[in-house]
Amino acid sequence: MNWTKRIATGAMALVLSCVAPYAFAQYYAAKAAAQAGASAGSEQSWWKNAVIYEVYPRSFQDTNNDGIGDLNGITARLDYLKDLGVDAIWLTPIYPSPQADFGYDISDYENIDPQYGTLADFDRLIAEANKRHIRVILDMVMNHTSDEHKWFLESRSSRDNPYRDWYVWRDGKGETATSKGAPPNNWQSMFGGSAWEWDTKTRQYYYHKFYVKQPDLNWNNPMVHQAFKDIMAFWLERGVGGFRFDAITTLYEDPQMRDEGVLKDKNGQPIVNLLGEPELDNSKTDNLPGVHPVMQEMRAEADKFDSDTFPGKRVLIGETYLPNVAELEKMYGPPGKPEFELPMDMQLGIINKLDVAKFRTRLTDAEDHLNGHIPLIVFDNHDNPRIDKRYGDGIHNTDIERVISTILFASRGAAMFYYGDEIGMKTTPPTRKEDVKDPVGIRWWPKIKGRDGERTPMQWDDSPNAGFTAADVEPWLPVPPSYKTVNVKAEEPQPDSLFAWYRELIRLKKTNPAFADGNNVLLDTANTKVLSWMRQAPGVPTVVVATNFTAMPQTVSLKVPGAGSSVKTLLKTPGAKEPASLRAIPLGPFGVYIGEVE
Ligand code: GLC
Ligand code: CA
Repeated sequence: MNWTKRIATGAMALVLSCVAPYAFAQYYAAKAAAQAGASAGSEQSWWKNAVIYEVYPRSFQDTNNDGIGDLNGITARLDYLKDLGVDAIWLTPIYPSPQADFGYDISDYENIDPQYGTLADFDRLIAEANKRHIRVILDMVMNHTSDEHKWFLESRSSRDNPYRDWYVWRDGKGETATSKGAPPNNWQSMFGGSAWEWDTKTRQYYYHKFYVKQPDLNWNNPMVHQAFKDIMAFWLERGVGGFRFDAITTLYEDPQMRDEGVLKDKNGQPIVNLLGEPELDNSKTDNLPGVHPVMQEMRAEADKFDSDTFPGKRVLIGETYLPNVAELEKMYGPPGKPEFELPMDMQLGIINKLDVAKFRTRLTDAEDHLNGHIPLIVFDNHDNPRIDKRYGDGIHNTDIERVISTILFASRGAAMFYYGDEIGMKTTPPTRKEDVKDPVGIRWWPKIKGRDGERTPMQWDDSPNAGFTAADVEPWLPVPPSYKTVNVKAEEPQPDSLFAWYRELIRLKKTNPAFADGNNVLLDTANTKVLSWMRQAPGVPTVVVATNFTAMPQTVSLKVPGAGSSVKTLLKTPGAKEPASLRAIPLGPFGVYIGEVE
């Protein structure tokens, strides 16, 4: 799948102070329990029911008033993250970078970009996060470096440079002394156009699966493996909780460099993307088997740093866009040769439509076809339009965000979400070409507006610039107009806010024993309007969850084998009626009900 496809699919679908004292006490009791649960003994398994929060550092909190978020800004917001209940934060790349792809083009893997701070700021972030029992997970980009990385500068300097073989260089087709010939094959960049770039000095093409400034590393070279093991050790020694492996399925290419297949429509005609380029099948550049031994190697490296004390198990997360659940299952590694703890389940995450049957299938897949492994559920990130754009109907967006977040936090597994989801931040793409920052939007404008719309500054309060940066500073991306009402300060004290909903769901996830590791069993499976399931673990009360996927009120009747029909509410959409029994649970438009079976 390429960016045009990923993005086009998305774009098409078009505290406590005023809560009752009872809730107050309940909240603190739960917090204490969660903290106790997180102590001795569970450091090795913390990730199994983890809540992981993706921070886009550039957009989270600016502290030196240059309009760009920074590490000190993240440190300043740790108490907020702690109160929300997150176990770990994943930071998108903070390393030195020309920022052609906002940090995914790295020019030095063992330092901090001065825009974001210093290594001393990073150490302080780790120390402060540790105090609050929050792990810091870094992005690990192994597919490519920046073209300004010293390895590539060496590599392109001459054909016999020792670094030449660190990247993927090939002759052009039909090259002569005077002509560069054609690119070696039909491979395309995810960012559009050929994936091959001619180098005039050394008269060969280099391969870049992503942007032209992101040359692919050659993973057939053992030196590249060693270099990344050293980089991982550098950060593991500094106390990071693990890594999220970027674009990991694209490490290897077909050694014979054969053309990719061209996708055809029902009538046998080639499918073209929005720029009129053929859609390729990616069979020669994506998900090749070589990725598995590499991840076994990286996992063994990370395991050397596991400890019984915080941060405990160092966890490997994968950016794993895969065609089906069988391929996802392989990412956990074969028996005895573990790979990722948490490869992202994008099967579920980018259904991009409130379709009960599809959700049911994907949740069943995660339960039955991952060989007992822990799913990592994720709906939202810095590469896709936000939830409002992909699942919203424009009228009930907040209730729909309640439905999605319920599936995220009330299903078995680890849950990952994106900064601003908890307050219902909206996708806000640029309206003028001159404002676009993302290379994807620059290249494809106006057909595709790029990823700026989901990377706008975090909305902390209703002051000018929303508390992200000082009022008189121009933030790197504009603050969406919604900040006046959609912001942390306004939502935090409101018991009916989306923020309160997230906090409560996370509290349930961390404190309810059926949520901790109970099985996910789908209920009422012929229903096409309501998705219902139960969480069941031995010796603890079963919990049922019902989510209405429609704008019409619904009533569901649930049956839990071996149980009666009385149910006690744990959480429901604000204003919803109490059910008389398990047999008649009323749900408003996009309503949610969670209850304990008695
Ligand atoms: C991943 C990142 C994306 C980046 C790409 C190239 O998909 O999430 O933001 O552009 O890799 O590194
Ligand atoms: Ca800054």
